[in-house]
Amino acid sequence: MNETYLELCKALDAHHRSLADVSSRALFAGDPQRFDRFHLDLDGLLFDYSKQRVVAQTVELLCALARARDLAKGLAGMRAGDELNVTERRAAWHVALRAGEDAPAQVQATLERMGNMVDALRQGRWPGATGKPIRHVINLGIGGSDLGPHLAVQALAPADAPLQVDFVAGLDAAEMQHVFNRADPASTLFVVSSKSFTTVETLANARSALAWLRAGLGEDAPLAQHLVAVTNKPKAAQALGIPAAHTLPLPEWVGGRFSLWSAVGFPLACAIGMDGFRQLLAGARRVDRHFYEAPFDANVPVLMALLGLWNTRWLGAATHAVLPYSYRLRELATYLQQLDMESNGKSVAVDGSAVEGDTAPILWGGAEPMGQHAFHQLLYQGTRCVPMDVIVIAGGGERERALFDNALAQSAALMLGKTLAEARDELAARGLPDDEVARLAPHLVCHGDQPSSTLLLPELSPYRLGQLLALYEHKVFAQGWLWGINSFDQFGVEFGKQMARTIAGSDDNAALDASTRGLLRARERLLRT
Ligand code: F6P
Repeated sequence: MNETYLELCKALDAHHRSLADVSSRALFAGDPQRFDRFHLDLDGLLFDYSKQRVVAQTVELLCALARARDLAKGLAGMRAGDELNVTERRAAWHVALRAGEDAPAQVQATLERMGNMVDALRQGRWPGATGKPIRHVINLGIGGSDLGPHLAVQALAPADAPLQVDFVAGLDAAEMQHVFNRADPASTLFVVSSKSFTTVETLANARSALAWLRAGLGEDAPLAQHLVAVTNKPKAAQALGIPAAHTLPLPEWVGGRFSLWSAVGFPLACAIGMDGFRQLLAGARRVDRHFYEAPFDANVPVLMALLGLWNTRWLGAATHAVLPYSYRLRELATYLQQLDMESNGKSVAVDGSAVEGDTAPILWGGAEPMGQHAFHQLLYQGTRCVPMDVIVIAGGGERERALFDNALAQSAALMLGKTLAEARDELAARGLPDDEVARLAPHLVCHGDQPSSTLLLPELSPYRLGQLLALYEHKVFAQGWLWGINSFDQFGVEFGKQMARTIAGSDDNAALDASTRGLLRARERLLRT
């Protein structure tokens, strides 16, 4: 840790103390230009962070911290495709997937092949084994091979899309059955999406799909017409009966949770068409350029990262809520849980030393306004600081306006709070007697000061979704860099998989702990009764 960095942390400690008793109300009252000062426009996407608990000096100090950590080197490394994934010695070069004309030839070739396949499917030129055209695409994948395209299909697929697109991720047979119930084998195509082609859930689902196809189309039916693979391991796909002509490659340097922009986006392209998919890439590319070039204090993803750092380390926030006021973005928090927590849920720095302080907060959230009728109570009157990203879409309709108003009402009320004096006045104005006012008033107090940023999208189009998701990707990377961790490995997850292999099929294994053995035996007993 360099001297300048440590000095800046101390300066931020002191700065935090100086702000501790200053309410968000006071921050707004003391600075009529606060919104102007603390919002940015990124090609039409507005980022308002004026409701965060910061002043100009906070931003200056945080940007200095980013300089002391040489974040510019990280940005340059990402752009150039350097080996940022230092533990696994490979690049994390997802930005190359959306670099347009500057993309590597292999990326452009894959996009072209993908485009031909997508066009054939969407135009009814892809017959199944019986000659009936494919009309239904079912993606089999999990984690990064599911969450990105799943979110994007929910966000962008038009109701009259020529192909129905579904997703199956988990091991529970009920999930697969739910989709089978709505599908016709003769017109269904399965996309087996797995970078490693070893993922237990995906392979189990692929085997179920093959059995279902055979049962529906006959043992000897040519099933290859019903199968596409997206993988870095084409031979493993071939072993499952998926021919090379139906296999789209996934470069080694694309991490699963950053892979929407690759052939992993195939189901999305099926739902919105290749032009739409290229628009998604263009939106992300626009944000990439901004990330590389904008000064830190005018750089949206860098500010998102720095504000997160401030909230976690100095405000002590343990969680971060993502609240889209959009049904179509209902899976955003789920997608971001993998992106953020699988990337930065780490406690060891790249040099092997323990990281100082907390890293990634627990990310959660869900589509609004449902949360208003569920967990917002805790945000208003609970004991914890919960920073939020509020995501709103400007739309002309009455419902859209109502959603927008709700979003603004919540973030304003959570920031401003309600004082005891205001609670008393409110009760008195209702005509309550003094003793009732005194009894009830403390229960109406809302502490306020909940920090939030608002992301306002002009519309929910492929381009805007590309922008939004790229912002979060860069935030995650910048934050990981600032914490000094490698955002691109996931050895914890691998440990979980090892344990699953140890337990798999074992009734009693002396190497297992007593709880696990006890539960295995209890299940056996239940199955016998
Ligand atoms: O959950 C762990 C993980 O390795 C993720 O990082 C990845 O996105 C997911 O599994 C799926 O992996 P694959 O694409 O190799 O099936």
